[in-house]
Amino acid sequence: MSIGTPMNAALATLFERMLDEMDQSESMEWDATESVLPTAVYHDPAVLAQETEHLFKRMPLCLGHADQLPAPGNMLARDLFGLPLLLVRNREGEINVFLNVCRHRGARLVAGENRVCQHSTLSCPYHAWTYDLNGVLRGIPGAEGFPNLDKATRSLRRLPATVRHGLIWVSLDPAATLDVAGFLGGLDEDLTALDLGSHRFFRQHARRRAINWKLMMDAFQEVYHIKRLHASTIAPFFLDMKAAGEGVGLHTRILVGRETLAQARQLPREAWSLRQHATLTHVIFPNSLIIYHPDSTSHMGMFPVGPEEIEFVHTMFTPHAPRDAKELAHWDRTFEMIDAGVFGAEDLYISEQIQLGIKAGANDDLVLGRFEQHLRRFHGHIKTILEAASAKAERST
Ligand code: FES
Ligand SMILES: [Fe+2]
Repeated sequence: MSIGTPMNAALATLFERMLDEMDQSESMEWDATESVLPTAVYHDPAVLAQETEHLFKRMPLCLGHADQLPAPGNMLARDLFGLPLLLVRNREGEINVFLNVCRHRGARLVAGENRVCQHSTLSCPYHAWTYDLNGVLRGIPGAEGFPNLDKATRSLRRLPATVRHGLIWVSLDPAATLDVAGFLGGLDEDLTALDLGSHRFFRQHARRRAINWKLMMDAFQEVYHIKRLHASTIAPFFLDMKAAGEGVGLHTRILVGRETLAQARQLPREAWSLRQHATLTHVIFPNSLIIYHPDSTSHMGMFPVGPEEIEFVHTMFTPHAPRDAKELAHWDRTFEMIDAGVFGAEDLYISEQIQLGIKAGANDDLVLGRFEQHLRRFHGHIKTILEAASAKAERST
């Protein structure tokens, strides 16, 4: 089974470049020489505080696929950056993101995390103040106790949120105006071509691990490790270090050649398959990744819990809901292999070991090879943004 995915001009050009790479021992894309990256960026609390302020609170963040909340009244609690968030689909079909906090005396409205539940209204467990699905305060038991309260001023606190390409985007800044298309820039056209909006939510697994969030972004931005770390899982499906990638503003697109890539050369352009002959990764700055497998798609959100702790949220979408037991079993196996095998036992495992090594002080810096150019650019963007913010702060003091 595979998904036919039309390529836009940018993806077709990248595909051609990847075909050219097949005969080269070195890629034209590699940097001239290696470089180093200080390990402080992976454990310094001051760095995370700056990243939170200048990246996570300023940029649209992707929280997964809207189809995870298919029906009015579906809601999902998720705590990010110390903020208890509540995603709610209302009766009009829109997704709202609220702070999961009652406006009476501040109790948490929906308990637990990362579980979709269904309610027709939101009722606080403490004194049962009740809100509708748009966060408007509707009911107060013992209302005579609040003779001067203007209910209209006590709606739930709302964060700017929208759905684009089937994905839920939120800003942690209540005053922000969300422009996801502008933020995505060139990637917006890719996502239109890939039509994720028509895909269906399949599974999600959120877990906390002792890893700095950037180590997990690094793990998906180089192909050097695929044949090595993933030798017993996905390595047989891929060519060794045959890839083409590029920065798109702050973001990145990377195509990695699969074992079947040689066949694409014999085929007319219209028959090139983005998902069969290659695997595309979108790196959406700062903390999202989308990987397009042959017949499913993985979104990963890297949410820092602390300097050395991540909440890694993996969501898998499929082109349609499973139509029979065979399809369900197939996607269950795919999810298990990717989520537990490749990500859990390999990428997350090795990153946890790296974090321990960093803590041990074995390396003051880490070495990036010529072909780890996307990591270099990713960390360069963060450095540039944080340095500009520090310079601005200095000028205003
Ligand atoms: S704190 Fe929610 S009703 Fe009192
Ligand atoms: Fe990996």
